[in-house]
Amino acid sequence: MTTELLNVEQLRTHFFTEKGTVTAVDDVSFTIHEGEIVGLVGESGCGKSVTSQSIMRLYDEYMVEYEGKIEFNGDNLLNYPIKKMQKIRGDAISMIFQDPLSSLNPVFTIGKQIAEPLMLHHKKSKKEAYERAVELLALTGIPSPEKRVHEYPHQLSGGMRQRAMIAVTLACEPKLLIADEPTTALDVTIQAQILNLMRDLNKKLQMGIIFITHDLGVVAELCDRVMVMYLGQIVEEADVKTLFEKPLHPYTRGLIKSIPQMTGERKLELSVIKGNVPSLTNKPKGCRFSTRCEFADEKCLEEMPPLKTHSDTKKVRCWHYEEIIAREEGGHVHASST
Ligand SMILES: Nc1ncnc2c1ncn2[C@@H]1O[C@H](COP(=O)(O)OP(=O)(O)OP(=O)(O)O)[C@@H](O)[C@H]1O
Ligand SMILES: [Mg+2]
Repeated sequence: MTTELLNVEQLRTHFFTEKGTVTAVDDVSFTIHEGEIVGLVGESGCGKSVTSQSIMRLYDEYMVEYEGKIEFNGDNLLNYPIKKMQKIRGDAISMIFQDPLSSLNPVFTIGKQIAEPLMLHHKKSKKEAYERAVELLALTGIPSPEKRVHEYPHQLSGGMRQRAMIAVTLACEPKLLIADEPTTALDVTIQAQILNLMRDLNKKLQMGIIFITHDLGVVAELCDRVMVMYLGQIVEEADVKTLFEKPLHPYTRGLIKSIPQMTGERKLELSVIKGNVPSLTNKPKGCRFSTRCEFADEKCLEEMPPLKTHSDTKKVRCWHYEEIIAREEGGHVHASST
């Protein structure tokens, strides 16, 4: 798990809107390695989808400006002409969306949608491409794939459509898969099957996966590493085990405390993080989380903390996390971490 696949450096995504320029992703840096599954979590509106769609450059170029670097296999995708970018999309980098109908074409059979890119990008004959389509549908657990391959999206159930979309996405064996809440709309048994499938394919194809979700339970089960976003920035990054065992950022600690526990004493109320995420047009001057953080002081209100390396596998964007953890654990209060 050492080969770098994607290296995002200081990415900023600015949208030109009627209300002026809005920066939805602000100084985001991270690396994804081959074969690694990385979770991207955070409350609604924190910039998870904008981050992933920026990597694919899916926004109309006249309404967006990107800053920074998105290096894929060593090339900066932000410098690619649109034509070259289109070749990467759906081939080396693929994306799965929450709503399969938005990415399956209603007027073509499932088989055609899998076979076309294989004929186009991978120079396969029509026969070979259709054989592969049947194989892929079988791989995603669709029953009677040789029959389904000739059907249209509306003929499939919701769960099957999601699988069909995954089959379409995986047809070209992408090096990097971005899955934006791919299972949120599905019932839990199908959700579990899709997650198993993604894990299998990740192992078989050594595909890197960015898995976007609200569901920390899914993250714990599936991911190797996790990035936590808040208001356009990554506030914590860690390997999955230590993120749950020892979260550092007050926001992450709040998110984890709000997960219902199956064991131990039943609490009457789950902890919730108070308040709401501020709007992008009214961002706090200092730490983005300062308006909701019970530990915020003058410095937090005034100065934006950097994403600091805490250890080999952990980064955190908070001025005072060491003191806060020490205080909560009833230990000694160390000098400020600044
Ligand atoms: N095309 C756009 N133009 C202007 N602002 C946008 C655009 N797309 C997204 N935004 C804004 O960027 C912010 C981040 O949105 P994003 O969709 O990335 O959130 P998210 O983390 O994916 O949330 P959710 O969990 O609800 O999917 C939001 O405030 C959103 O309103
Ligand atoms: Mg989203």
